[in-house]
Amino acid sequence: MSILDDKRILLVVTGGIAAFKALELVRLIKANGIHVRVVLTESGSKFVTPLSIQALTEDKVYTELFSLTDESEMGHIQLSRDADLILVAPATANILAKMRAGISDDLASTVLLATDKPVFVAPSMNVRMWEHAATQDNIGVLIKRGVEVLGPDVGAMACGEFGAGRMCEPAEIVQHVLSFLSLNKSLEGKTALVTSGPTLEPIDPVRFISNRSSGKQGYAMASALSKHGAKTTLVTGPTNLRDPSGVKVIKIETAADMLQACLDSLPADIAICAAAVADWRVVNNSEQKIKKRDSGSVSALELNENPDILKTLSQLHSNRPDLVVGFAAETENLINNAVKKRKNKGCDWILANDVSETTGTFGGENNLVHLITDKGSEEWPLMLKEDVAIRLVEKIVKEIER
Ligand code: CTP
Repeated sequence: MSILDDKRILLVVTGGIAAFKALELVRLIKANGIHVRVVLTESGSKFVTPLSIQALTEDKVYTELFSLTDESEMGHIQLSRDADLILVAPATANILAKMRAGISDDLASTVLLATDKPVFVAPSMNVRMWEHAATQDNIGVLIKRGVEVLGPDVGAMACGEFGAGRMCEPAEIVQHVLSFLSLNKSLEGKTALVTSGPTLEPIDPVRFISNRSSGKQGYAMASALSKHGAKTTLVTGPTNLRDPSGVKVIKIETAADMLQACLDSLPADIAICAAAVADWRVVNNSEQKIKKRDSGSVSALELNENPDILKTLSQLHSNRPDLVVGFAAETENLINNAVKKRKNKGCDWILANDVSETTGTFGGENNLVHLITDKGSEEWPLMLKEDVAIRLVEKIVKEIER
């Protein structure tokens, strides 16, 4: 028997052009042995009929909040209680706004207000509706509350425009949902701290020293820890990434602020330092914008070394996390340098990665790492940064369970 066999999904279909894809979603969910029940909004039923959904689910389609027969058979509370997960696909701008505001004026929005189950949404709307400050605001709030947002994709739209707003493909949505349902919450009760992104070290009010870190690997780590049930804090320098769902995100700029935010977030059971902390800061950064000189020369910047956050966390006398993991970004002598770095910093594990320009690691989607512990090193295949995060968190789970 598979772990998914007794799982139940409540699929909420709202009124977007992508509603017709709900049929494919139902088919794929069922093909994976998962029970699926559907709530269809009134506008959703303009795009896809209850009859066609019913034929696929072999179950009643739930449409009305105040239906005497529905209430006697299956009320809105029971609908959400019965599900392991609620998936809203397609999710219109309207349902997202209702979810944010707690409006419950039909069956779909009432079920979503009445639930304490994990909620996934797959937005689908016109690009300008998606980019509107109201929608972005709503999405930001929903993410903070732990709602998992899948997509939307960028592409040509039914309305003839091009941009972000297309619903993700059903296969991709189902893959996310399945991997969530397959996870065991083995880090429930644990706390985790992750650093991510670059730091910015000011030179003057308009200039700074920084690096090309995208923050992707750290965000993926925070997301994987949180999905395994750990109460997770992410301390991050500036990135273009969306906050990971259910994670407390603290945004900082300088290394000094990152260190302070980390110390303020202790105690933590697990710490992962994935940030590309700028190694130096400008000693006396100028309060005024530095002017060009007639001579064409520039005065040298005086730099001081920044605090080492990984080293500080690893060498704390009290409150040291049980497991401290760092990265070793190297361009030569990968393993030797990483082994030395692990010893020198005092962390438990280090992930060595080659960041030479040709590898595309910095800013890219993939990562090729070696995990180095006190027992030696193991090479992992080239993987998406999300998969590196999942694999590391699975290792952490095993280590903590020992
Ligand atoms: N790190 C940190 N604080 C710093 C510098 C690095 O927390 N001021 C952490 C990084 O997050 C990473 C690890 O230390 O987990 C190694 O970072 P890396 O850039 O590889 O090494 P450095 O310590 O900066 O040393 P070097 O640049 O000499 O290789």
